[in-house]
Amino acid sequence: MKDYPFLKACRREPTAYTPIWLMRQAGRYMKEYRALRKKYSFLEMCKNPELAAKVTLLPIKKFKLDAAIIFSDILIPLEAMGLKLEFAKGEGPVFHHPIRELRQIEKLRIIQPEDDVPFLMDAIRIVRQELEGKVPLIGFSGAPFTLASYMIEGGHSKNYIFTKGMMYQNPVAWKKLMEKLSEVLIRYLNAQVRAGAQAVQLFDSWVGCLSPSDYEKYILPYSKKVIDGVEKSVSLIHFATDSATLLELMKRAGGEAIGVDWRVNLKGAWRRLGYDVAIQGNLDPVILLGPVDLIEKEVRRILDSVGGRSGHIFNLGHGILPNTPIENVAALVNMVHEYSSKWR
Ligand code: CP3
Repeated sequence: MKDYPFLKACRREPTAYTPIWLMRQAGRYMKEYRALRKKYSFLEMCKNPELAAKVTLLPIKKFKLDAAIIFSDILIPLEAMGLKLEFAKGEGPVFHHPIRELRQIEKLRIIQPEDDVPFLMDAIRIVRQELEGKVPLIGFSGAPFTLASYMIEGGHSKNYIFTKGMMYQNPVAWKKLMEKLSEVLIRYLNAQVRAGAQAVQLFDSWVGCLSPSDYEKYILPYSKKVIDGVEKSVSLIHFATDSATLLELMKRAGGEAIGVDWRVNLKGAWRRLGYDVAIQGNLDPVILLGPVDLIEKEVRRILDSVGGRSGHIFNLGHGILPNTPIENVAALVNMVHEYSSKWR
């Protein structure tokens, strides 16, 4: 395998510069993406391998990013498990029949990814072919908690009342749901690896709503099971937002790299995690709105705090915002590459 800076950084090996990719790098901040979205719905784009591949490659053609991430969504496998998914205009994802009872959980399907989401595997194969080894390709899934929260709430949530309600009041249902999700996610991630994903990221975007003790009791065993079940030939990045109080526990659940958001100081987070794990992050996506000298100041602050230590993957702390100017993205990528090379 070629010596890609991104994969080397995941393994904490020295690189000539700090690699960078951006969560949601293929998306609405690009006019090419918005033009396609006029013709196709988001789900149509996810389910059409040629379109998904084309969108995956848009940011790779425009910027000197160090990794591609397959265009899809964390909610795709849930549809295959038997939930009806809709992206309502202006509302985000909606499940009209949320999961609230054990008997609904018993009906959920354990998916066969190659048969149930063939479009994703086809998209991965096309992207690998078109990339011609230029940069590695990242596959991904949601983590059990974040996916359970969408299934139980029926969409995005503020207080996670129904999710925590099941966790606290219906331990049998919670255990069954988390076990089913873990099994599905192991199959789903390994199928992406077989199709050609060279690293995977587990998104536990909303797990920061839990206390450390609840994370340890209700989440950690299942996230760990998923991570332990993924092919060891690829690096796994374990990401969450609002995770300042959970970092040590997330590390125990596993991952070659831990992804952190901007609410933590990267250097302090890494010290707490220990240097036997790589770290990804953590520019505030709002900083990327500009101006460029502010972006530069923040990039330098983050890179100075790392001081050239091997095992840092530069990223935003969460997904890129739709109103981000593309010149700023280009400037960010160049700044990270140039400024970080001074330590090598
Ligand atoms: O990073 C990438 O470029 C790969 C593609 C990707 C998307 N979603 C595309 C997308 C990835 C990795 C995701 C992950 C995802 N999806 C997460 C975890 C990461 C995070 O942001 O916390 C979550 C929570 C979702 C669920 C989801 N999908 C929501 C809440 C929404 C609506 C809100 C929004 O940003 O529009 C989506 C839609 C979505 N997923 C879009 C894209 C490009 C926008 C769809 C559109 O064009 O309207």
